[in-house]
Amino acid sequence: MILDGQVVSQSIQTRLQSEISELTERAGRAPGLAVILVGENPASQAYVGMKKKACERVGVASFEFRVDADYGEDKLIALIENLNSREDIDGILLQLPLPLGYGYDEDKMLQLIDPSKDVDGFHPSNVGKLFLGLPTFWPCTPYGVIELLKCYQIPVEGRHVVIVGRSHIVGKPLAGLFLQKASWANATVTVCHSKSQNLSEITKQADILIAAIGQPGFVTADMVRPGAVVVDVGINRVVDVEASRGYRLVGDVNYEAVAPLASAITPVPGGVGPMTIAMLLSNTVLSFKRRHSYEF
Ligand code: GUN
Repeated sequence: MILDGQVVSQSIQTRLQSEISELTERAGRAPGLAVILVGENPASQAYVGMKKKACERVGVASFEFRVDADYGEDKLIALIENLNSREDIDGILLQLPLPLGYGYDEDKMLQLIDPSKDVDGFHPSNVGKLFLGLPTFWPCTPYGVIELLKCYQIPVEGRHVVIVGRSHIVGKPLAGLFLQKASWANATVTVCHSKSQNLSEITKQADILIAAIGQPGFVTADMVRPGAVVVDVGINRVVDVEASRGYRLVGDVNYEAVAPLASAITPVPGGVGPMTIAMLLSNTVLSFKRRHSYEF
């Protein structure tokens, strides 16, 4: 079975679109999302472009701030503080990574974002709330993985989820979500990473294997138990002279080799990627409702 993130993302966005039109009428303004992009990382530019288009599709007001790499930390701080205070903005997203060599302290910048507008869920207070099972914003990619499995009714409770990758954006928060006391979670969770010994021995124990390590084709057939569910979070650009853009996108899983073994698998592109965008919109709507004290 192919877990089609494109289809699921579309259906979430259709639902959000009608909810947003009601909310906009009720509040007299649309939910607003500010996206800050510092520098010219091509992948980041592509992501930010996709986020903007998705906002336009569903009726979220998007405010884009594309600034040069040498914009500077002081001006970035002032921008974030201004967005914190703006009534028309419900969500603030600082696209990562910030460019290297310009003196930006990424952690410091993320901590400046008002936690009530932190639709990425990266602020330490929101990370803490996630791990405690308190209401907060779940980071969009982990949230998308959970929703995708839910939508395809993949059982998680009591099963062994092995996550390869310990990033702050995916691996760690996803582990926290799968550990929650909830029927869609309650998993046994193992997190492995680049320094883990006997990696394939561990990944072969997975009922659900999550690849989030950022290396093209890292997960090979010998690392997967036949019948496992495989979720590929990777989006890697690899050179392809035959492709019109000069590259193609591949995941962290060697799809051709692993797909025949898996009971279910996400493709790249068209798997987790579109889900991330849907959950960003969903978090923006959630923030809007919280700020208006609407029921949800
Ligand atoms: N860079 C890669 N993924 C993400 C994400 O989900 N949010 C932000 N802000 N930056 C990212």
